[in-house]
Amino acid sequence: MKRHFCEIAYGSPEYEKVFLLRNQILREPFGLDFRLEDLSWEAFSHHYAVFQGNEAIACVIAIPGCDHCYRIRQMATKKEIQGQGIGSELMRKVESELTGKGGVKISLNARVTALGFYQSLGYHSVGDEFIEVTIPHQKMEKRLQ
Ligand SMILES: CC(C)(COP(=O)(O)OP(=O)(O)OC[C@H]1O[C@@H](n2cnc3c(N)ncnc32)[C@H](O)[C@@H]1OP(=O)(O)O)[C@@H](O)C(=O)NCCC(=O)NCCS
Repeated sequence: MKRHFCEIAYGSPEYEKVFLLRNQILREPFGLDFRLEDLSWEAFSHHYAVFQGNEAIACVIAIPGCDHCYRIRQMATKKEIQGQGIGSELMRKVESELTGKGGVKISLNARVTALGFYQSLGYHSVGDEFIEVTIPHQKMEKRLQ
């Protein structure tokens, strides 16, 4: 089935599908649940996803910051299709979208297990590792063209 990239509206039916994917990939393996967290910032963020038919298979959120910088959060690809290039394709499209909005830099807190993924996309580490949501993380940045 054909895959398509899209920006989804906060609170829309597509947002609900993506929310379930995020929870399944990023929280449930740790016995956690997004529904118990403050997600008020999500209303002011850009939500991007890849759909295959009606199914959300990958997603990421971009939060506008100061000086045309964006913060990326909650990147996830459906477990069964990780490692097939879908996450990289999504990130490249998001970078292009953010560049189009005048973005000059992206920063993110990467799980150390995903450092290789972001390095392959040109992100570099900044500072030392730290713990976030019980998991070791590393701040990473990339300048947009
Ligand atoms: C990390 C994640 C989003 C990557 O998405 P994906 O669709 O699997 O990524 P891709 O298939 O596009 O991988 C692109 C490259 O990154 C590498 N890569 C992917 N996941 C990786 C990981 N966890 N560690 C190291 N390298 C990784 C791939 O090997 C590939 O390299 P290659 O092009 O040299 O073969 C996905 O694996 C995932 O959802 N993981 C669990 C949740 C998570 O850790 N999210 C990130 C939170 S910061």
